[in-house]
Amino acid sequence: MYVCICKGVTDREIQSAVEDGIHTVRGLRKQLGCTGQCGKCKAQVREIRDEVIAVQCDMTLNTLALSS
Ligand code: FES
Repeated sequence: MYVCICKGVTDREIQSAVEDGIHTVRGLRKQLGCTGQCGKCKAQVREIRDEVIAVQCDMTLNTLALSS
């Protein structure tokens, strides 16, 4: 699904970039171009970023719990 219409950036591209370690909206803008034109996608970009980071944190905690 397109999140940033101005730059043609999808939710999957944002998820992938966050999974690769880009954790700021500024970084996502630099990498993908999203949020850099009209800015209307900023809230949704943030939301997707936060969801991916939350999943990564859960996975890390589960890994730590299993290894202790
Ligand atoms: S919709 Fe993303 S900058 Fe316009």
